Amino acid sequence: MKKRIYRILAVLTAACLLLAASGAGAAKAENELWWKNTIAYEIYVRSFRDTNGDGIGDLKGITQSLDYLKELGAGALWLTPCYASPQEDNGYDIANFYEIDPVYGTMADMDELIREAGKRGIRIVMDLVFNHTSDANPWFVESRAGRNNEKSDWYIWRDPGEDGGAPTNWRSIFGGSAWEYDPIRGQYYLHTFLKQQPDLNWENPEVRKALIDVANFWVNKGVGGFRLDAITYIKKPAVFENGRPDADDRLSGIHALTADTPGILDFLREFQEGVTPGTDIFMVGEANGVAPEELPEWVGGDGVMDMIFEISHVLIDLPDEMNWCKTREWKIPELKKMFSASQEMTRSTKGWVPVFLENHDQPRSINHFLPEGADRVAGGKALGTLLLTMRGTPFIMQGEELGLVNVAWESIDEYKDVSTFNHYWFALGEGYTQEEAMAAVHRFSRDNARTPLQWTDGENAGFTTGTPWIPVNEDYKTFNAASEKADPDSVLNWYITLAKLRSEHEELLDGDYRELFPEHEQIFAYERENETAKAVILINLTTEPAAYDPACLEGAELLLSSAKETEKGTLAPLEAVIYEAPAGKQ
Ligand code: GLC
Ligand code: CA
Repeated sequence: MKKRIYRILAVLTAACLLLAASGAGAAKAENELWWKNTIAYEIYVRSFRDTNGDGIGDLKGITQSLDYLKELGAGALWLTPCYASPQEDNGYDIANFYEIDPVYGTMADMDELIREAGKRGIRIVMDLVFNHTSDANPWFVESRAGRNNEKSDWYIWRDPGEDGGAPTNWRSIFGGSAWEYDPIRGQYYLHTFLKQQPDLNWENPEVRKALIDVANFWVNKGVGGFRLDAITYIKKPAVFENGRPDADDRLSGIHALTADTPGILDFLREFQEGVTPGTDIFMVGEANGVAPEELPEWVGGDGVMDMIFEISHVLIDLPDEMNWCKTREWKIPELKKMFSASQEMTRSTKGWVPVFLENHDQPRSINHFLPEGADRVAGGKALGTLLLTMRGTPFIMQGEELGLVNVAWESIDEYKDVSTFNHYWFALGEGYTQEEAMAAVHRFSRDNARTPLQWTDGENAGFTTGTPWIPVNEDYKTFNAASEKADPDSVLNWYITLAKLRSEHEELLDGDYRELFPEHEQIFAYERENETAKAVILINLTTEPAAYDPACLEGAELLLSSAKETEKGTLAPLEAVIYEAPAGKQ
């Protein structure tokens, strides 16, 4: 009963905030879901802001930065996992879902963050890592203690294969066998990721109930939503069989064998029904591997989730996720097609997409999507325009709003990310040279987006007064929040301007999407149109000037251009423009 009252209160508060934000008379906003009209911002907690000098970002650092985030228009803050964890995978190995890790602060700090954010109309989004836990989680400790305890079936245990080795030849996503032998049980357990991240057994109803309880604990704390980590892997095939070896290690990548196994939707529907009714929270899934024909069951009115991260565009240059050395060339029309396809999907499912170019697992977008040598200020603005004007909820990765770029440390030993090491060793095993393997690390390492957020041009970019857990990008003297705030032409001020524009021109929020010139090899162009207005967005993604047919701009007026001067029909290198016309014009 108490829970329900909290939920009703939370819904009422959110409704009031929404009404206040949209102003009187904006009747439509009442019908809209709050998370469709806002901007989400991903905080890599470890690298965001340190307040106690231990070199590690913490919850207090987020609370202190809320006004900065508010100005960016962020209404939802996705925090990467800050629960108790041995940090083998920087918190994606959770030892206790009900506790905050001491390096990040206390539960009181979390309560304060939720409260202070709420005062500014900002909701906290928790990252639920439910495919697996840490091997230090008491659930696993009990499970591995023997074959006959209450939790012995909470994880995925199998007897050794016929040869006494691993039950199957599956390769974990981070490399190496997906099975680990446990001498006490005399059995192997399955881990889709690290061996310190054993997979939970979702077939067991007690496990599913325990996870629903975790989510409800956080709902009752007043969070605004969840990001569901690696959610496509929770259902395993009924029979475990070897896959076809796909590399010199004779193993077979687990992704192709277990992602999106039939029956997964039943688990997720049960989860959704156990968590969301009576709330206004949203759920976004990290759902690598969902087939397009299944999307209506994943998202939209009948979906098990509100949004899923569709990742084809971030894999555009990587045909084999495990092999960072094997890249492919791509052309701009291909990239555009991927975005348009996900927009098509929202039309067919009446669903909604999270729009993103970066996250904590991906390189920086300026390096990823723009030609080498592109001016990073112009480039950051071009990509920011795409991010904030597509149809969907934009997810800004911390630092993206500052135009931050990749790092290129000389030695593999300077890196911190466990998957970077595994990819590096995998490449050497496949016969690539050390230089080739390092070049791949520079290009794809997850550490690229995990360097400390650059606040000032002071020591350690103002991130910490101590020694940062991971080095600060050397460019911080020029690229940092304080300097960029003071510079009207900065990437940061472009984001702030765009965020404001989004809130003032509703077609950018709810307008339909229609791509223009899909074959154009330089320009990404599209319209966003609702009942009253049509915005036309044109972005030159190349370092050469570009021309287009200005007929699409008849009767339209310029709202914003990233170039000093602009003319209908041409765009400067990396220029982004937004025009507006009354609805229904041509
Ligand atoms: C997701 C996370 C990634 C993590 C992995 C294992 O892909 O985004 O950072 O390493 O899951 O939990
Ligand atoms: Ca700290």
